[in-house]
Amino acid sequence: MTGIPLIRAHGADIPQIGLGTWQLQGAVMEGAVAAALEAGCRHFDTAPRYENEADLGIALRKAGAVRGEIFLTTKVWWTDLAPADLIRSAERSVETLGMGPVDLLLVHWPNPAVPLEGTMEALAKAQEMGLTRHVGVSNFGAERLRKAAAACPVPLAVNQCEYHPQLDQSALIAACRELGIAFEAYAPLGSGNLLADPVLAEIAERMGRSPAQVLLRWHLQQGVIAIPRSSNPGRVAQNFAVGDFELPEADMAALHALATPEGRHFNPDWVENWD
Ligand SMILES: NC(=O)c1ccc[n+]([C@@H]2O[C@H](COP(=O)([O-])OP(=O)(O)OC[C@H]3O[C@@H](n4cnc5c(N)ncnc54)[C@H](OP(=O)(O)O)[C@@H]3O)[C@@H](O)[C@H]2O)c1
Repeated sequence: MTGIPLIRAHGADIPQIGLGTWQLQGAVMEGAVAAALEAGCRHFDTAPRYENEADLGIALRKAGAVRGEIFLTTKVWWTDLAPADLIRSAERSVETLGMGPVDLLLVHWPNPAVPLEGTMEALAKAQEMGLTRHVGVSNFGAERLRKAAAACPVPLAVNQCEYHPQLDQSALIAACRELGIAFEAYAPLGSGNLLADPVLAEIAERMGRSPAQVLLRWHLQQGVIAIPRSSNPGRVAQNFAVGDFELPEADMAALHALATPEGRHFNPDWVENWD
């Protein structure tokens, strides 16, 4: 047992903290994965775009991960959302990871130029083909998420989106709850940019925790999933040691108050708009 709570969505049991792996490769990936498993992590997030699916599979096998005990997510890049491309991408990911079917396959970003219905049907087909146990999306705003959920022949388990105190996602989180879709926070530490914030520093100092631990606790107490990334084994371990303290409501609110209209760091041109 890991001590990290599970979030259940449409039959998927997802450990509430996972290891993000963007930019981790080779020996650094191996060190991070070994430290994560040792710290109780059972959830790993990758994508073909990160060009590290093979590295993650190798690291998990070297560290002796038991396949049935870990939750493995990969994605399909936005240029591969036509149905045949999506299936090819999923097949390639499963082969590259070398860990059998994945637990969750996400559409990495929407592509307004490709009809959503075809993409959703292909996602369901990938599940039916046994390439993935569950399916979901990433970077879908509320309106697009509702359309995707209505178009998908199987339930969407997750919407993975940027979330940290600088970015208010309350409306999107409410939409996910309404649809029974788990909200998963990427860049939960603001990609590292938030860690020196003075409000956060004061809370961390008072609680006797690191700023990263306070941020992850802020996510946990909202019932959302978070996937912090670290290349450093000590910091990886620290990020999973957040089960034994609680942020008072006033500190939760003080962190929420850091939100600004410019708080979104991931905003590529191809999305066109968030809905
Ligand atoms: N779906 C999407 O479009 C999407 C987009 C972005 C990210 N993601 C996923 O979300 C994951 C997390 O997001 P992210 O990688 O952007 O950023 P993040 O997890 O918010 O922050 C990572 C940064 O924080 C630092 N850090 C981590 N733990 C720390 C600690 N305990 N103390 C001090 N510094 C710490 C890391 O540096 P060190 O390595 O030096 O520790 C790194 O610079 C990604 O890896 C990826 O799996 C998905």
